[in-house]
Amino acid sequence: MIKVGILTVSDKGARGERVDKSGPAVREIVSRLDVAVVRYEIVPDEIEIIAAKLNDWADGGEVDVLFTTGGTGLATRDVTPEATLAVIDREVPGIVEAVRAKSREKTPLAMLSRAVSGLRGRCLIINLPGSPQAVRECLEIILPAVPHAVKIIRGEVTEHTVGMPGQVG
Ligand code: MTE
Repeated sequence: MIKVGILTVSDKGARGERVDKSGPAVREIVSRLDVAVVRYEIVPDEIEIIAAKLNDWADGGEVDVLFTTGGTGLATRDVTPEATLAVIDREVPGIVEAVRAKSREKTPLAMLSRAVSGLRGRCLIINLPGSPQAVRECLEIILPAVPHAVKIIRGEVTEHTVGMPGQVG
């Protein structure tokens, strides 16, 4: 069972002026795996608030994988990557590299995402874009690697035990 946190980053969502469709899109896609969504919240595009929430969830020890959605673009209020970089210990750049590369096959606008991903302790934090459609496209790319990532982070396998998701280990 993989424990998932979903943090929607949206000024309008946090003010109740927009129904959050992106958080539920994350929930829908990750539900294909053996997951429990243990945290879900909407916060405004404020770097301190986002970083505090990431710290809280990661350090609480209950979230294996923490998806953020929104705030990764070029608008002045888009600060989710900065908040994430402020809290992670180690980047995991391959995840967002893959997402940007594959997403560019669908839209050239994929290159406008400044999403980052990395580890804070044993919690893997992954930034997703804000639109529900983009969430779906990006998660399709990431999802196959998630179970193996969690096993490695928990110390259940070493990087050398197996190569591909689905193999024994
Ligand atoms: N990635 C995929 N797969 N599909 C998309 O539609 N939209 C892009 C990009 N990544 C998109 C995508 C756009 S238009 C922007 S501005 C950036 O993600 C950042 O989105 P955000 O500011 O909502 O986080």
